[in-house]
Amino acid sequence: MEAANLPRHVGIIMDGNGRWAKLRHKPRSFGHSAGMDAMIEIVKRAGEREIHYITVYALSTENLKNRPKEELDELFGLLRKYFSHHVKELYKRGAKVKVIGDKSPLPADVQKLLEDGEKNSPPDGKFTLTFAINYGSRAEIARAAESLIKSGEPVTEESLASGLYTYGLPEPDLIIRTGGEMRLSNFLLWQSAYAELYFTPVLFPDFTPDEFDKALEEYSRRTRRFGGI
Ligand code: IPE
Ligand code: IPE
Ligand code: MG
Repeated sequence: MEAANLPRHVGIIMDGNGRWAKLRHKPRSFGHSAGMDAMIEIVKRAGEREIHYITVYALSTENLKNRPKEELDELFGLLRKYFSHHVKELYKRGAKVKVIGDKSPLPADVQKLLEDGEKNSPPDGKFTLTFAINYGSRAEIARAAESLIKSGEPVTEESLASGLYTYGLPEPDLIIRTGGEMRLSNFLLWQSAYAELYFTPVLFPDFTPDEFDKALEEYSRRTRRFGGI
């Protein structure tokens, strides 16, 4: 693969953890835990491939509204575990951690861990790893619009984009969704206007670094026109 044909920013909708666990007659939390392990391996591979930005969808605004409390508590438990221990391994690999989404409804200690995860990132990191947690594009766009109205600034594509959580990140070039569903489920809707989409039936815990490479290869064969000819 030519470096020139690699995406600068990859977004991943990490779906299929629950079904992966169900196939193994295990609780859904077992799938979420396996998904976190898979995510770490993908991030390492992305770092090796010199992908400068990787954004992972870990919890949507709709997940927070519509999932049972027990499952959400288990997800918070996993965030606690990964943001207090495993994050250090990712720092060593060169990850600068960023979190997008509304942290305010999350348990206070989880909010603190996520903030520390961002603050303690190595300033000379090689790539930006963004976690979308209680993230939803519609809420993000509405929030940006509200702040523009308050400021009295004219509404333009640029001014609106500057109020999004992703301000400072380049637009995603490639969005990968595992788990077989062919939808975006409120992930980076504005930012993905010209992203290449890659859908795979592989359930996220089975999405190995080699599967990730397959997505990069497919991306490298696509022709992006941005409305041109
Ligand atoms: C994605 O896996 C992870 C989260 C949404 C937290 P799911 O939990 O949606 O897994 P499936 O889609 O039910 O298999
Ligand atoms: C999308 O997966 C959200 C994350 C992966 C965090 P969902 O499982 O919530 O999506 P839907 O409900 O099938 O659209
Ligand atoms: Mg799902």
